[in-house]
Amino acid sequence: MILCSCNMITDRDVRASVKPCGAAADRARDVFRAKGCLPRCGRCVRNIQNLCEREAAAKVEGRPQATRSDPAFAIAAE
Ligand code: FES
Repeated sequence: MILCSCNMITDRDVRASVKPCGAAADRARDVFRAKGCLPRCGRCVRNIQNLCEREAAAKVEGRPQATRSDPAFAIAAE
């Protein structure tokens, strides 16, 4: 699912930016940095941030990754 239409950043990109320890890309700006781009309109930042936090917490706690039924995805689809 595309979370940032300006930079074509997907939920997979966000997940890939969060390392197994959950410590690496815990902020949206780290995702943009990893993709070599900057936010343009900024509409996606909150959703990317939410997904980063969920993924980092899930990896640290060993929970399954966020799914499309999670609120972060629902907000992104609006
Ligand atoms: S949708 Fe991500 S910067 Fe515009």
